[in-house]
Amino acid sequence: AKDPVRVLVTGAAGQIGYALVPMIARGVMLGPDQPVILHMLDIPPAAEALNGVKMELVDAAFPLLKGVIATTDVVEACTGVSIAVMVGGFPRKEGMERKDVMSKNVSIYKSQASALEQHAAANCKVLVVANPANTNALILKEYAPSIPEKNITCLTRLDHNRALGQISERLNVQVSDVKNVIIWGNHSSTQYPDVSHAIVKTESGEKPVPELVSDDAWLRGEFITTVQQRGAAIIKARKLSSALSAASSACDHIRDWVLGTPEGTFVSMGVYSDGSYNVPAGLIYSFPVTCRDGQWTIVQGLSVDEFSRKKLDATAAELTEEKALAYSCLT
Ligand code: NAI
Repeated sequence: AKDPVRVLVTGAAGQIGYALVPMIARGVMLGPDQPVILHMLDIPPAAEALNGVKMELVDAAFPLLKGVIATTDVVEACTGVSIAVMVGGFPRKEGMERKDVMSKNVSIYKSQASALEQHAAANCKVLVVANPANTNALILKEYAPSIPEKNITCLTRLDHNRALGQISERLNVQVSDVKNVIIWGNHSSTQYPDVSHAIVKTESGEKPVPELVSDDAWLRGEFITTVQQRGAAIIKARKLSSALSAASSACDHIRDWVLGTPEGTFVSMGVYSDGSYNVPAGLIYSFPVTCRDGQWTIVQGLSVDEFSRKKLDATAAELTEEKALAYSCLT
């Protein structure tokens, strides 16, 4: 039998945490033959609720779950973890300035970076979910210089999956027959959901999505805004933000990163830009990637037309501005 892997979930007493921890304990993230030990971190006001989640995990008697640590101590939470899913953060409250929220999250991610750097397993893979996800990941990277930058990512897989879902509904095909949509840039409303290279499996072979949809106005208009604003639509309908889809997408992100993407398929991940596609280096930006042997690689050589170029640049500009705001909070 395999040795258990220690998986950290921060903000585990929250909404996404509640959906995510049972998925991990069932093997959705790391596979049905990989035992896990869950490390759950939250802050003292949520300690009692966190303990309740631990009680439920025990009660669910998951065969793969070999242990549960529920703690408000960052060092205890980070010790020995090979996977860290950072869901905890400070939410924007009514009347708060953007800078104030940024400042709270910068200080959280700065201190959690140090704890991970000092206490996590070597080669720990980090996924930041908490918003502003790209910029929180960038701060984490800055303050954990010994963690390779390749190991620090943020979640845009939910947006990617939303794009797959919209195309599958529009074409009335199975979502599993749609692939290679791309989310470029920030996990925010400036993200660019791009179907230029997306493909659908049909009875007569693989077909490009733009050819099958053959409605450029929809693809360049409503499709994009629906994906960009899906988070807000969920909040309006549920009076709570997306949780099960965020948790499921976080599992997809880690599973593909660790176990690899299928041949001919790429997925979207927020990763440290090396300047590919003329995106400024040094931002955490969502790119199309393939994964193999536990490493992601940005897909190279995709054509970018003028329409797409503007959208890639606009979301990069927002991230550059967010980065400056985050740095201004550090001083
Ligand atoms: P929530 O408010 O239900 O849970 C957040 C939890 O984090 C709370 O239990 C809170 O006590 C905890 N927390 C706060 N500060 C912490 C700290 N310093 N250390 C550890 N835990 C801490 O929020 P929810 O709905 O679970 O969302 C979590 C985050 O994920 C939010 O920032 C949200 O905006 C973001 N999100 C990101 C998505 C993405 O696709 N990247 C999708 C959906 C949500």
